Amino acid sequence: MDDKILNFFKKRRDGHVSGEELSDALGVSRTAIWKHIEKLREEGYDIAASPHLGYRLVSVPDRLTEIELKWQLGTELIGKKIFSYREIGSTNDAAYKLAESGEAEGAVVVAEYQTKGRGRLGRKWVSPRGKGAYFSVILRPDILPRELSIITLVSSLSVARTIREAVDLAAFIKWPNDILVNQKKVCGILTELSGETDKINFVIAGVGVNINTKKELLPEGATSLAAEKGKEISRVDFVRALLKNLDRYYKIFNSGKLDGIIKEYKKLSAVLDRQVQINYHNQLMSGHAVDIDKEGALILRMDSGFCERVLAGDIVMLR
Ligand code: BTN
Repeated sequence: MDDKILNFFKKRRDGHVSGEELSDALGVSRTAIWKHIEKLREEGYDIAASPHLGYRLVSVPDRLTEIELKWQLGTELIGKKIFSYREIGSTNDAAYKLAESGEAEGAVVVAEYQTKGRGRLGRKWVSPRGKGAYFSVILRPDILPRELSIITLVSSLSVARTIREAVDLAAFIKWPNDILVNQKKVCGILTELSGETDKINFVIAGVGVNINTKKELLPEGATSLAAEKGKEISRVDFVRALLKNLDRYYKIFNSGKLDGIIKEYKKLSAVLDRQVQINYHNQLMSGHAVDIDKEGALILRMDSGFCERVLAGDIVMLR
């Protein structure tokens, strides 16, 4: 009912909607409408009421709720179903459980706050309430487990593009899955899979973006979009734009047109043509990053002149 009332307001843009009109259209009493309006107000919606003109939606809260994210989302797959939480352990864990019990591809779990936000390699992901975007998408791609990097690549590209288009900041991708702005990390992606050696059951793509997070709360080397932009950013608009891009790039990936995606990814790469040092299974490797192949592996030219194909790892130094 709440979403029906909001949609009514939103379609009317800045205009007024009378209680009578709402109760006729939605088939409930005016008292019931009033109760819903009160509830929406408690959730942060500013709804003005005038005795002659009726109700008017003045502003909406910048909360990552299902209603707000779905408003004019228009995606084919990603976000068709959205599970939004005020607080959760980790959206990746919740999405994993949902996927195990059969939830369809494209479903998104999003939270305002994570008590156990996880990063790669067992690290913690700082997830302060109402400041960032913390969400996970259930995917069921037709790939082999060793091709998982492709999903990370598709997700990283979607985030970098969204930062460029929606916030107008020059975002780059630090292979495999960190997004940088002014050489500092604004987003991390944690891709996890359930499957066997030769078969994937599902993939969870977990995305954490520091949007309005104060820099002091973030680890060294990290920043937020607001800190780099110098102003607050609408989290709802950002996540909606990101879901649209994920939908777009995932569709391209599914249609087999990976070449275009790799080409775009390479253009936004922060590591190609640079000397890098990688921590790979606690072994440090240095080399020149010369390419990223079709499986998302980084090709390093070592000092010996030989090339190494690196499928995963942590870049610890860029020169
Ligand atoms: C990294 O850079 O180490 C990856 C960070 C991934 C963080 C996101 S926030 C949403 C999702 N839920 C989690 O617990 N982690 C991912």
